[in-house]
Amino acid sequence: MKGVAGVGLLGSALVLADTLQQVPQKPILADACPSDSILHNGECQPAILGAQTMDNIRQNTTITLEEARASAQEHEGFPWTFLPECYSNEKQTEPVCVFSDQDFAGGRGIFLVTTTPLAYEMLKKPAFSQPEALSRMNQHSNPPFEEHDFPGKGRGIVANKTLHRGDQIFASTPLVISNPLSYNLVDSERLRLGHRGVDTLPPDTQKLFWGLLDHFKGDPVEDRINTNAFDITINKVQQYAVMPEIAMMNHDCRPNAAYFWDEDTLSHYVHATQTIYPGEEITITYINNERKREARMKNLKTNWGFDCSCSSCAAHPIFAAESDARIQAIENIAEALNDWTSSSTATPEMAETMLSLYAQERLEASMGVAYKHAAEVYSSFGDRYTAIKYAQLALEMLHLDRGFNDNDIKFMLAMAKDPEQSWSWKKRVGHKRFEDSSCGHAH
Ligand SMILES: *[C@@H]1O[C@H](CO)[C@@H](O)[C@H](O)[C@H]1NC(C)=O
Ligand SMILES: *[C@@H]1O[C@H](CO)[C@@H](O)[C@H](O)[C@H]1NC(C)=O
Repeated sequence: MKGVAGVGLLGSALVLADTLQQVPQKPILADACPSDSILHNGECQPAILGAQTMDNIRQNTTITLEEARASAQEHEGFPWTFLPECYSNEKQTEPVCVFSDQDFAGGRGIFLVTTTPLAYEMLKKPAFSQPEALSRMNQHSNPPFEEHDFPGKGRGIVANKTLHRGDQIFASTPLVISNPLSYNLVDSERLRLGHRGVDTLPPDTQKLFWGLLDHFKGDPVEDRINTNAFDITINKVQQYAVMPEIAMMNHDCRPNAAYFWDEDTLSHYVHATQTIYPGEEITITYINNERKREARMKNLKTNWGFDCSCSSCAAHPIFAAESDARIQAIENIAEALNDWTSSSTATPEMAETMLSLYAQERLEASMGVAYKHAAEVYSSFGDRYTAIKYAQLALEMLHLDRGFNDNDIKFMLAMAKDPEQSWSWKKRVGHKRFEDSSCGHAH
């Protein structure tokens, strides 16, 4: 059975009791409805404010965009530009709605396809509650790059000035944040929410959306979202976000830039992770690159719809096999370094080899993890200054790759300040440092 097209005004305590009583109740389904929704025609519907909205639901009509705008304006302090449109069904009893704010990020606008509780959680973030938190975002008047068409590969961006490690390339807010729960809706309703969402964006932002590429050739809105979306997390809930700027960047398994998602500002940051000279393409990775070639190629094909053609995917099989072997060696060393038991064979030399392998593999963008291993293993042998050196390097690289609030960053901050206070300090003092144990051997 299909869900009913509903129009709801949500997150409010103003639900009118007598309005609710007019709704035919079916006890079993009613129990399944979340607290902020009501039952209507056998479906859970968002709780609503007024009789006019109720009539819309009862008549099973969808109001026009202008009506939705007028309704939103009628309610003082209503946080969205349009009255949200919602759908639900037995599988998805918590209605999924499209929430739109045209004023977001200085007028760039945003729409959210998600449930009411999650949308209102987002409203509490500085991104919505403190507009000045977004002052660094979407500043694209003098970018350090230009768009470029690469034959056989499509467009990408190329540096037009020298970028140094840590230089910001973008900081942008999404046009859409979409919750995977929307896949519980029937197709027509899910697609309707997407189209409605795009229609609610300010005109210039709509142009940005339609300028996105679509790989999969199905519904034009959903394809653009699927082709360009990044997995993000908001309050521990996995969602998809589309940032048109980062969508211009091509994938490379050995990228020269890294990105992270910042939950507070609902923004995506991209920074250079190494020197990038004018004329070089600026690339990011769409996947975890510490995997072998075949696994990487498969992942890109399945999730992003393209055949990986970056140099590390296109390499001669013999070189590719050497690269895979280095990836395997990194994995083996990481396993040894993660062993904190008394029989651990971990040594600082292993971490040095790991760093060398990362550099040889041109995995600079994900080197933060390797530096962290190095800081910890030196700390575990009581080598204060080498631990500090690597903690500082880890801090820099982890920031570019993981953002502001990562746990490893907190550990590395503490380590850089005072390795003696780290849990790892001198944990392995007395362990052997060389496997052949030819200690004291003079030459
Ligand atoms: C609502 O309208 C749609 C088409 O306009 C129809 O397919 C659907 O069955 C209606 N639902 C209800 C519960 O009346
Ligand atoms: C780089 O290209 C952009 C266009 O994308 C332009 O606005 C900017 O001025 C250029 N910068 C330099 C240093 O040429």
